[in-house]
Amino acid sequence: MTGKFITLEGIEGSGKSTSLKDITAILDECSIKYITTKEPGGGPLGSDLRSMLLNKDSKISSEVELLLMMADRKDHIDNLVIPNLKKGIWVLSDRYLDSTYAYQGGGREIDTSVIDRLVDILKLPQPDLTFLFDLPPEAALERAIQRSALDRFESEPIDFHTRIRNAYIQLAKNNKRRFKIIDSSKDFDGVKEQVVKIMSQFLND
Ligand code: TMP
Repeated sequence: MTGKFITLEGIEGSGKSTSLKDITAILDECSIKYITTKEPGGGPLGSDLRSMLLNKDSKISSEVELLLMMADRKDHIDNLVIPNLKKGIWVLSDRYLDSTYAYQGGGREIDTSVIDRLVDILKLPQPDLTFLFDLPPEAALERAIQRSALDRFESEPIDFHTRIRNAYIQLAKNNKRRFKIIDSSKDFDGVKEQVVKIMSQFLND
């Protein structure tokens, strides 16, 4: 038996981390074994790569950024995600491959065919279910500003975040079965209600 691979996606401040707790509570109720993890930074090499990628003082080109994200992902998938799925343990990841299509493809405007080729070469699997937490970038950044000091991505201009949001929406349209869009502009209970409904459908499928 293999576990299910669930990913949470969205621009910064879209409420992924809060909803992760709602999802784990549901899995606990169903006595399903799981781990939670994140990208960048979930694999053994992760913390060094994560600080390199998020540090505002790092001078990194878009191509190097793409390759570092992919290196981080390969390390994460081979050493943590796949071994757990093989044991029947579910994996919940705060960001995965769709972040690269949205941020490096949409945000940095790297041709998506380049990302497609890397995905093929690295043999990266697709998740079973992806939540897209959707919110206008202005509102999302306001939340991010209140939370902590802005990192290298959060400090980018609003256009960058708008391109990322649009890329996510396009990804959801192209992968309707896997993607579930959550309206993150709703209040805490409104977001939770949507997440609970999707999880119940997924568990009953
Ligand atoms: P986090 O703050 O949500 O943990 O994400 C770290 C940042 O890294 C966030 O701004 C999104 C960015 N990112 C990419 O640009 N490409 C990727 O492939 C991933 C996984 C994250």
